[in-house]
Amino acid sequence: MSKSFVVLLGFATAVYAANFRRVACPDGNMATNAACCPFLALKDDLQANLFKGQCGEDVHEVVRLTFTGRPNATAPAPDGLVPQPQDSATSILVRFADAGFAPSKVIALLAAHSIGRADHVDPTLDAAPFDTTPFTFDTQFFLEVLLQGVGFPGTDNNIDPITACTWQGFVNNQKHMSNSFVAAMAKLAVTGQGTRRLIDCSEVLPPPTPPVNKPATFPATKSRQDVQQACLGVPFPHLSTDHGAQETIIPHCPGGLDVTCAS
Ligand code: HEM
Repeated sequence: MSKSFVVLLGFATAVYAANFRRVACPDGNMATNAACCPFLALKDDLQANLFKGQCGEDVHEVVRLTFTGRPNATAPAPDGLVPQPQDSATSILVRFADAGFAPSKVIALLAAHSIGRADHVDPTLDAAPFDTTPFTFDTQFFLEVLLQGVGFPGTDNNIDPITACTWQGFVNNQKHMSNSFVAAMAKLAVTGQGTRRLIDCSEVLPPPTPPVNKPATFPATKSRQDVQQACLGVPFPHLSTDHGAQETIIPHCPGGLDVTCAS
């Protein structure tokens, strides 16, 4: 697994009594709690046999492991409880607010899409990325979403001006994006859970590789003129444009493990 995205992953498991002594796991790993041993073994297995050093499709999917250990849902969520991607941005923000997430926290969470790709939005495209650098946890996502584009199929452009300054604040500010994402993820990971019944197994996370130092750039042919919504009263970051007469070609590798896919 690579890039600072790794910092978001934390496994926890529900228990009734915490035990903070270091223990030896059956596979030789050491853990602060025996409950974390299976996750250390899982991490070793994933790193060696699935991720193979690439921030590819399999790494994107592993975000879900953050929630491992929570009691399973006993019934499907009622319609409307979990917002749909085609809902208006405003109504999605309202639903998140119900769960205690301010709009700025929601936007911080969306940094996950920096390395995400969509399989179900446009049926004619598989692994359609959200930005031009789908294998790098960088701020391109926040820049490129601001560019004039088309909405989710069947919807108009879906924007809520209340988030404009938060979006813009993440553009070309890797540290701010990473820190905000980590804080929002930490909140999301335990939302609705009694934290005293959870053991923090974040120690299983391998050290993140340093973030990219490359400044954000407009994709080839795009510039400040193409930004649909900016933060009123705050100058937009001054960014250069990638060279090229055609729009930036986005790396594509549905299988996720092709070495040519790493950016
Ligand atoms: C405003 C709320 C959100 C909306 C509207 C949204 C929308 C979407 C959509 C449409 C996709 C593509 C799904 C597909 O076609 O396969 C997607 C993928 C993804 N989302 Fe979100 N999402 C939201 C919140 C989040 C949050 C809070 C996280 C995690 C913190 C997240 C993480 C991801 C990841 C990692 C993927 C890519 C999965 C992959 O590459 O296989 N999303 N999201």
